Amino acid sequence: IQKNDLEGKVITISAGSTIEPIDPVRYLTNHSSGKMGFELAKVAANRGAIVNLVSGPTKLTPPQNVNFVDIKTTTDMKDTMLNLLPKSDVVIMAAAVSDYRVKEISNKKIKKDGESLQLTLVQNPDILKELGHKKGKGQIIIGFAAETNNLENYAKGKLKSKNADFIVANDVSRKDIGFGTDENEVIIFGQNDFKQKISKASKEIIAEKIFDVLSMKGE
Ligand code: PMT
Repeated sequence: IQKNDLEGKVITISAGSTIEPIDPVRYLTNHSSGKMGFELAKVAANRGAIVNLVSGPTKLTPPQNVNFVDIKTTTDMKDTMLNLLPKSDVVIMAAAVSDYRVKEISNKKIKKDGESLQLTLVQNPDILKELGHKKGKGQIIIGFAAETNNLENYAKGKLKSKNADFIVANDVSRKDIGFGTDENEVIIFGQNDFKQKISKASKEIIAEKIFDVLSMKGE
């Protein structure tokens, strides 16, 4: 049965990784394939939402019926997400954001000199934290937590420090879920000790269940 429970809602979702250039040839990034964020976007659009999908480079084809914005760096993603915040009812940060960028990007290819190479990295802004602290009344901000240990404690810490309404926690030390896989297993944490585990399933079903939680909580 087709659900239309997200009709009229504007939902902005980030997906994939951000990339940080080192020189014209090389960059820093991480293992995100974009699958989790793209499935969230597809499911939200199927359930009637107007969807903005903001994504770093991936090998995926954007779902139909979404406004697709492709970006590269964390700064690009931050600017785009903050721009879309005032028009959004729900914002979901499923992207794996690069926490660091290279301090000085070389405009020429860095040549090998047989020695070690030192790069100075500077910390990137925390997009979820900014969204959480800028959100207006009635807006819902959902973050993810990608952890390798202490999943529950770190997820609860992120819920608080980032002022999010929900944190969707996944264990990225596992090979069968998390980065790059077709399946995931998550625990959703919310305000007032809300906690719901979603057992291992396709990322599409995980996305459906995340929106079920939103609908159930009347948000
Ligand atoms: O793309 P896939 O291959 O399908 O993999 C899915 C996934 C594992 C990438 C996804 O399920 C996931 O966990 N995404 C969040 C990855 C992440 O960056 O987690 P984090 O615990 O480092 O960050 C916590 C939250 O803050 C996240 O919502 C993240 O988007 C956000 N963040 C992090 C750093 C930063 N500088 N700005 C941010 O907004």
